[in-house]
Amino acid sequence: MKIFIDTANVKEIREAVSLGIIDGVTTNPTLVAKENRQYTELLKEICSFLSGPVSAEVISLNAEGMVSEARQLTKIAKNIVIKIPLIKEGLKAVKILSGEAIKTNVTLCFSATQALLCAKTGADYVSPFIGRLDDISQEGMGLIRDIKQIYANYNFKTQIIVASIRNPLHVLEAAKLGADVATVPFAVIEQLIKHPLTDIGIQRFLEDYKKIPQKQ
Ligand code: G3P
Repeated sequence: MKIFIDTANVKEIREAVSLGIIDGVTTNPTLVAKENRQYTELLKEICSFLSGPVSAEVISLNAEGMVSEARQLTKIAKNIVIKIPLIKEGLKAVKILSGEAIKTNVTLCFSATQALLCAKTGADYVSPFIGRLDDISQEGMGLIRDIKQIYANYNFKTQIIVASIRNPLHVLEAAKLGADVATVPFAVIEQLIKHPLTDIGIQRFLEDYKKIPQKQ
């Protein structure tokens, strides 16, 4: 499973990339607003040290505007992927952008039928938001299971990005289901690494090391 980091914070991205586990980045207006930086400059900096896909979101609500924003954003770097909301105009825009070989990530997906239509437009990625479904007592992972099945039935090439991940169990379930990508916030990446038995084990090894006779 590919792991993307779901943040617009350059320090977090750099640190996660240094771990050797990061395949890409996803941003959205909410994440970017926390950084108090100009969006284009921020994306330029991220793409200067990361060659994997970096998702950047459009804000237009009509296909024409989305396509024009996408064409501008892709000038920033060749690894920019255009994030487009899963609405009627979004589907039209993705179809046009697919024809121009501009990579797309269709976001705010909350149903398997939305994901089916998204794949038909030729989108490169679809982002089902599982945490937000869990928030309203709908099992987010059930959606990933359904999309996986539908895409396998028809051999669709659109990759599933499990998004709106809130905890390590979401990552575990995504991997067990064979999702293509999980986009994970930095805090959850840290939770994935940490295990109390690892820390206790290190402590014991260090204490025992002191008991080993040293060379005179
Ligand atoms: O990738 C989409 C993600 O950023 C949304 O997460 O936690 O705002 O639902 P959240």
